Amino acid sequence: MKFMNLGSRELASHYVAVELFKTIQFNGDPLLGLATGGTMEEMYEQLSSLINHHHTDISRLETFNLDEYFNIDANDPNSYRSYMKQQFFDKVGLTEAQYHLPDNDSVDVEADNMHYEAMIRQKGPFDIQLLGIGINGHIGFNEPGTPFDSQTRIVELTEETIEANARFFERKEDVPVQAVSMGIETIKYSNRIIMLALGKKKAPIMAKLYHMTESDIQVPASSLLDHPHVEVIMDAEAAHLID
Ligand code: F6R
Repeated sequence: MKFMNLGSRELASHYVAVELFKTIQFNGDPLLGLATGGTMEEMYEQLSSLINHHHTDISRLETFNLDEYFNIDANDPNSYRSYMKQQFFDKVGLTEAQYHLPDNDSVDVEADNMHYEAMIRQKGPFDIQLLGIGINGHIGFNEPGTPFDSQTRIVELTEETIEANARFFERKEDVPVQAVSMGIETIKYSNRIIMLALGKKKAPIMAKLYHMTESDIQVPASSLLDHPHVEVIMDAEAAHLID
């Protein structure tokens, strides 16, 4: 696991955007795993600009998102589908056939999750899996205690995560308490993993992860320690507790 402090939020976002852009431009059939969250907003802005500015052909790009809230209307502004359309898909003209998010209605949810996982196994591994990180070390919505061999499934969000995500909703009671998430094993089915961590709230978990030499089920991000190609990109605030 390689840690890089790139100083500003802008530069850290730029580095990640350029790495994704290069993959989209130069891999024949680029396959990306994508993340949402506040951390990714500037990165998607920069990636969309790069694609549009260079008139990049994205007709062979296919993407799978890490997670989606359970039982939230697809058109709800807080759904991750809405987020992705607004931040990236609609900006670059990615079509519905090219992007996938976990199905999140309650009809046949188990079959839908198995299908999502099977599609990833068939098309994968991802060229790049993009990740943010929760203050408790979650990746996707794999909360502390998640087995490392987990696959796409329904998960219960922790109080900490509900609290952290409440900023996007009018009322805390509106934050969904369940989500559908790729598992840790699904995430690791990637040739390369890039994690982006910005802001001082992420500093304690960054320092903890940096000093870990063995994975611990209570720190889901530490499951990546044995993956051969993981980069953790930080701004100075996220990195400031690393000595
Ligand atoms: C989102 C996701 C989550 C977020 C994490 C950080 O798709 O998988 O793991 O990356 O909760 O969220 P922000 O960026 O809002 O701090």
